[in-house]
Amino acid sequence: MTNQTNTERQVILTGDRATGPLHLGHYVGSLKQRVSLQDEHDQTILVADMQGLTDNAHNPSKVSSSILNVVADYLAVGIDPRKTTVCLQSQLPALAELTMYYSNVVTVTRLERNPTVKSEIKSKGFERSLPAGFLTYPISQAADITAFNATLVPVGDDQLPMIEQTNEIVRKINSLAGKPVLKECKPLLSNASRLPSTDGKNKMSKSMGNTINLGATEKEISTAVRSMYTDPDHLKVEDPGKVEGNVVFTYLDAFHPDIKYVSQLKKHYQRGGLGDGTTKKILEECLQEVLKPIRERREKYLKDKAQLIDILRAGSEISREKTNDILLRVKSVFGLNLF
Ligand code: TRP
Repeated sequence: MTNQTNTERQVILTGDRATGPLHLGHYVGSLKQRVSLQDEHDQTILVADMQGLTDNAHNPSKVSSSILNVVADYLAVGIDPRKTTVCLQSQLPALAELTMYYSNVVTVTRLERNPTVKSEIKSKGFERSLPAGFLTYPISQAADITAFNATLVPVGDDQLPMIEQTNEIVRKINSLAGKPVLKECKPLLSNASRLPSTDGKNKMSKSMGNTINLGATEKEISTAVRSMYTDPDHLKVEDPGKVEGNVVFTYLDAFHPDIKYVSQLKKHYQRGGLGDGTTKKILEECLQEVLKPIRERREKYLKDKAQLIDILRAGSEISREKTNDILLRVKSVFGLNLF
């Protein structure tokens, strides 16, 4: 497993399901890292609209209406389309074709064992109505990664099982071919620890209302900070308070530029005499400052939808060529290259 950026130039592929706006968790966990990777590496970001449909086919507008928002989120945080190729999964037919070929070398049992998919199936309560596309999305994700010949995949730790399954598929195809046709990839985990949800309890999820979106208004930021989980035993200002598990401090650690100041605040809180109202006020000011420029850029980009579409179209055209090339190689492995 790689935890730091390799010095040699790597082919990087990463992506996000288009199922809603991106939030601070994405920012800390992956977007900041992508911005720094784009200078030294050959980076492609895939807006995974087809993967978004695997559990939203009953409500496809949730996906279609998210696509341009996600692109605006990328640009607003500093992804530069001249350095990073941004493309749209549904515009790359080679990905769907590769998924079909790979499906034949993956067992249903193996899919059912994928821990991330397993817990998603449980939490979404699919039972007998589990869409086949959802169970098999790791295969489609393997197609995404291999179609670009990616060697490095920046992801959160919940995506590690996808990388593992991708590499199993790579080894199967290579062993069928008797030569290395596809490359294995490595995950690149961010050094930042996972940002907790504002309620401190659950995984961040838009439907739970426990996230702060990159496009959050001043009012939304303020409401979210005010409702943040702190130390439930810290009842009076004079009481000593707990910093561990206190979401306000976790966010201050992640976003406040003055580390020394935050450490003084923590000590003060622990010895007593610092109220939650005050720490929340400090955090709110800090987040307002971080998010204001992002929100403004995001709004500006969303005003020019044609420009966003052009960026996706240009990125998808470049990617179509790359992915078609890999598709031909995989078809040849199965002898399907008569013409
Ligand atoms: N599964 C990823 C997510 O839920 C999105 C994704 C799709 C992805 N294809 C990918 C991530 C390829 C990395 C590489 O956000």
